Amino acid sequence: MLLGVNIDHIATLREARKINDPNPLDALSICKFSGADQITIHLREDRRHIHDLDAKAIIEQSALPINLECSINSDIIDIVCKLKPYRATLVPENRDEVTTEGGLDLEKNFNKIDAAIEKLKENNIEVSLFIDPNNKSIELANMLEVPWIELHTGSYANIYAMLYTNLKHTQHSIKELELNQIELKNRLNRSFEELKTASNFASNLGLKVAAGHGLNYQNVKSICTIKEIVELNIGQSIIARSVFTGLASAITEMKKLINE
Ligand code: PXP
Repeated sequence: MLLGVNIDHIATLREARKINDPNPLDALSICKFSGADQITIHLREDRRHIHDLDAKAIIEQSALPINLECSINSDIIDIVCKLKPYRATLVPENRDEVTTEGGLDLEKNFNKIDAAIEKLKENNIEVSLFIDPNNKSIELANMLEVPWIELHTGSYANIYAMLYTNLKHTQHSIKELELNQIELKNRLNRSFEELKTASNFASNLGLKVAAGHGLNYQNVKSICTIKEIVELNIGQSIIARSVFTGLASAITEMKKLINE
C-alpha cells in the first residue's frame, strides 16, 4: 500500500499568520526519509493554503513524485500544465467548502473533464479522477481513459467518526448525528461495501485505485483490507498528529499501520 502525504495543512498553518513558516518545502525530505511514497498538494482556486510558488518549488525540489490536486477550471489546468507535476488529480471545487466534499460529477462535466485530461496528457502528466464509489462514475472514468481513480472515502470516514469518536464538528447534519448506533453501524457497513465493490469493479476494468479523504489512524485499517486499493492519500490526520509527535513519527506510524 502506497502512502501519499498531503502537506497542504502545513501551508494552512502558515496562512493563519501570513508569514513564512512553517514552510511546506521543509516537509519534503522528512516525508521521504519517513517512508512516504508521494507528496500530495492541492492548488486551490482560492489559494487558501498552497500557493503557485509553493507548488513550483515543491515540484522542482521533491525527490518523491508530486500528485497535484486541482479543479477542472481551464485557467488552473493551464497552470498545472506549466508546473508539470508527476500526476494531476482532478477534484471538484466549491469556494464555500471547508474541504473537498464529494467526487467529480463526470456526467455533467464530461466534455470539460475530457478537454482537461487531453491537455494534461499532452504535457506528459498522469491523470487521476477523484470520484465517489459508484459504478456509474467508474464507467465514465474508464471512458475518459485515465490510468487512475481516487475513491472518496469521506462518507465512510464521517460515519466512522459519528459512531466511534466524540465528534463535535461535522459536515453532516444534526439529524444524522441523532441516528442510533445500530443505524450508524448499518450505514458504516453499507459505505464500506460501496468502497469495496467500487474498487473491485474499477480494478477489473484495469484502473489503478487510490483512496482518500478523512482517513486517520483509527479508520484506515479497514480500508486497507480492500486489496484493490493500492494507494492512500492522507493529509489532515497526519499533519494534526505531527503537531504533537513531529512529522517523521506521524508518517512512520501511518505507514506502519497501512502495511501491517
Ligand atoms: N485526496 C483528495 C483528492 C483530497 O482532495 C484530499 C483533501 O485535500 C485528500 C485526499 C486528503 O484528505 P484528508 O486531508 O482528509 O486526509
